[in-house]
Amino acid sequence: MKNFVFHNTTKVIFGKGQVETVGEQVAAIGGKILLVTGEVSVKKTGLLDRVKEKMTMAGVEFVELSGIKPNPEIDSVRRGAAICKESGVDAVLALGGGSVIDASKVMAAGAVYDGDPWDFFEKKIKPANPLPVGVVLTISATGSEANGNAVVTNPAVAQKRAMYHPLWYPRFSILDPELTYTVPADQTAFGAVDILSHVFEQYFHDVDGTDLQDGFAETIMRSVIQGAKTALDDPDDYGSRANLMWGSTLALNGVIGAGAQGDWTCHMLGHELSAKYGLSHGAALAVVFPGWMKFMAERKTSRFVKFAKAVWNVDPKGKNELQTALEGIEATVRFFRDTLKVGVTLEDYGIGGEKIELMADAVIAHKGVDALGGLKRNDLIAIYKSAMG
Ligand code: NZQ
Ligand code: ZN
Repeated sequence: MKNFVFHNTTKVIFGKGQVETVGEQVAAIGGKILLVTGEVSVKKTGLLDRVKEKMTMAGVEFVELSGIKPNPEIDSVRRGAAICKESGVDAVLALGGGSVIDASKVMAAGAVYDGDPWDFFEKKIKPANPLPVGVVLTISATGSEANGNAVVTNPAVAQKRAMYHPLWYPRFSILDPELTYTVPADQTAFGAVDILSHVFEQYFHDVDGTDLQDGFAETIMRSVIQGAKTALDDPDDYGSRANLMWGSTLALNGVIGAGAQGDWTCHMLGHELSAKYGLSHGAALAVVFPGWMKFMAERKTSRFVKFAKAVWNVDPKGKNELQTALEGIEATVRFFRDTLKVGVTLEDYGIGGEKIELMADAVIAHKGVDALGGLKRNDLIAIYKSAMG
């Protein structure tokens, strides 16, 4: 196990009915807030009205910014930062999923910075003294509810960039699984792919002595697989929605990655698909991971054997190690395609191979070839090509 510092500053308020506490939670971080929401869901479900009522009762003033799109764009962040400055708000409340939360984190940093918020992603300037951010989570997927990451797209340069900053952890996150009953089947499925992908990125490493993290990661994977299956059959099943929600948080709040070393290559490959083709985050990962796993199975055979046995119950009798590993990978692909019903090839999303080299070059230009788990340009191209279908 490697040395690590674990310092997660997000207070999690978890469980049925916890959204009722939003007024008091918000009042503890600000007196006038920017309330940020997505396109339509919080209006349709009535959640927006419930939250506004609770804030009014708690004496909190607010200004609203709605319409944040999936794969949030830098222009909406710029707008949010400008509203914060004009209105003199002292905190931001994100009411939504990863897109709303990520955009809110960057708005909160942009609110106290005179330049363009895209500068943070270009590493021109570090965020300093951002406004505090609170979260009411409505979809289980990214883990943004309890981490310091934000991912924003800049269509002007066709780039989707991820960035971490220790000041970007939300002050609090309300995780009320009942709020996810209305998440449609495709978004539930994409969310499950994303949670599993976060575990994959941190599980297939080369570090010895991580039994504790491995066991934790395997339990998250099994619970999310079971939770997604049940939630797709019965969207109002509380236990499944609760396991997915807590799984979302635990997969990317620093716990399973502490002392182990992931490389996040598939996320980088997936971000290029989202930037160049507008693919949703979960869809992009469902396309990239099968090819990456098959590519890596020979390099990290023992990890893939461990995964096959622990997560998919693959019986190794009568098989060599590589066969056992590949059986676990096939089970993963079948789960994505047949149970979650998500596309697993570029063809499934109507995408051809014409930008593959461009995307591979963009990943290398952004991350540097040393950050890709030993993969080189040709390997990235081969993984994209294997995703063509
Ligand atoms: O916009 P509305 O109308 O609210 O609809 C949303 C959206 O269409 C809908 N939705 C959310 N909650 C709902 C609901 N519909 C019905 N009922 C509800 N309760 O779901 C759709 C997707 O929402 P979005 O926020 O985009 O999903 P997600 O949470 O998957 O976030 C994706 C974004 O997060 C980034 C992704 O790259 C992507 O931009 N990520 C952020 C990470 C982080 N900050 O740590 C890590 C991830 O790897 C990821 O990169
Ligand atoms: Zn992700």
